[in-house]
Amino acid sequence: MVTLNIVILAAGKGTRMYSDKPKVLHQIAGKSLLRHVVDAAISLDPYKIIVVHGHGGEQVQQEFASMPVQFAKQEPQLGTGHAVQQAMPMLDDDGITLVLYGDVPLIQVRTLEKLSAESNSLTILTQILEDPKGYGRIVRDSQGSVTSIVEEKDASDEQRKLTEVNTGILAAPTNLLREWLSRLSNVNIQGEYYLTDIVAMAVEQGIAIHTSQPNSAWEVIGINNKMQLSQLERMWQAEQAKRLLTQGVTIIDPSRIEIRGELTCESDVEIDIGCIFEGRVHLGKGVKVNAYCVVKDSSVAAGSCIETYSHIVQAEIGECCKIGPYARIRPGSKLANEVHIGNFVEIKNSQIASKSKANHLSYIGDASIGGRVNIGAGTITCNYDGANKFRTVIEDDVFIGSDTQLVAPVTISSGSTIGAGSTIVRDTPAGELSLSRSKQVNVSGWQRPVKKTSEN
Ligand code: UD1
Ligand code: CA
Repeated sequence: MVTLNIVILAAGKGTRMYSDKPKVLHQIAGKSLLRHVVDAAISLDPYKIIVVHGHGGEQVQQEFASMPVQFAKQEPQLGTGHAVQQAMPMLDDDGITLVLYGDVPLIQVRTLEKLSAESNSLTILTQILEDPKGYGRIVRDSQGSVTSIVEEKDASDEQRKLTEVNTGILAAPTNLLREWLSRLSNVNIQGEYYLTDIVAMAVEQGIAIHTSQPNSAWEVIGINNKMQLSQLERMWQAEQAKRLLTQGVTIIDPSRIEIRGELTCESDVEIDIGCIFEGRVHLGKGVKVNAYCVVKDSSVAAGSCIETYSHIVQAEIGECCKIGPYARIRPGSKLANEVHIGNFVEIKNSQIASKSKANHLSYIGDASIGGRVNIGAGTITCNYDGANKFRTVIEDDVFIGSDTQLVAPVTISSGSTIGAGSTIVRDTPAGELSLSRSKQVNVSGWQRPVKKTSEN
């Protein structure tokens, strides 16, 4: 296999974003523009990935510290050709180099595979645009062979009418690229070293120029401002919704679903409006997600229903569970089958066995809960003493009365019943009733205070 190097240009300032953050760190679908490109690059299994950075370089390096990328600094920024030059000392002459752009985030792996298939020639990714304004134009001779790329600002009126444009993305044999780049000049309208000038050099040497096109136009859309960022986000979300609909997922309104990561669904899944899926989410057969839920890095097994306004993060939900409305399931929670979690119930780092219920107003943190347990309204696991966290164990078939505090560490043995309003600080015996309440007092003849008037 040919050695593949990938150079990603990301030195531009992104002035029109009006942000302190480097342009390539702005996000689409919850992931930075540059991260989209780096992920696509990694999928190609390259020998090296080099990010050319400039403005906000430290922030960029920080975000990618744990990724298999290397950095080359471009300072000052003297054009796209100059940018690629900065990466060349890090590359061997073997194989080919693919040039990508940090602000062209949605380039797809399949398009890049096609582009880098030719290892002996220069291949450029082009596109026909109804409105080619602002782009470099692809100039072809009478036989249709590419002869050069001319930048809009340098183009003649005749050339400006050409509708085939340069997307900027290209692949070239590394040794030739190195040689061409060393000969670039900045004698042009912008006084920049244009990467695009290598095309005419290749033609002069009799090297064939190949062109290839992206499968979809949105793959090569670049981002310069927040308007374009939001437009591309919408296009990407529409694509995601289309993909799911094609697979048979019912989406009530494809323009009102957000997928910021990877959502996989089995058959007969139904998703109502306003739901956001982040990271990796899996929905089993027949799962229903009602309006305005947020689900992140979680799985929901077959037949479960997530009711409106629920928030689920890093959790595993079993089959035929009923969650919400207004439920919050936090990281480390694992719910077995047929568990019911109702409104204003927060579950954190807890395991709940099948058929248990916490239907109203509770906090269940760091707990192991058995099967068929009923947790009454307003039950709190007091898991934190201000310094350390402790576990609460609730065994099978326990009934916990409303407004109970379970002060951890504590074990509620199987079959116990806890009377409403109790504060339980010691383990309870199996099958017995435990309660801790002060005795009720009825004071006869007691009068309610009355409001003082201003004359008093
Ligand atoms: C470039 C192409 C043009 C193409 C267009 C597609 C050249 C000379 N022109 O034009 O043919 O149609 O892209 O969008 O290549 N960058 C650096 N360092 C620099 C200059 C740019 O890293 O010194 C990076 C920018 O951050 C950006 C990318 O290169 O990601 C493209 O730069 P930009 O100035 O937008 O190129 P265009 O002039 O639009
Ligand atoms: Ca420019």
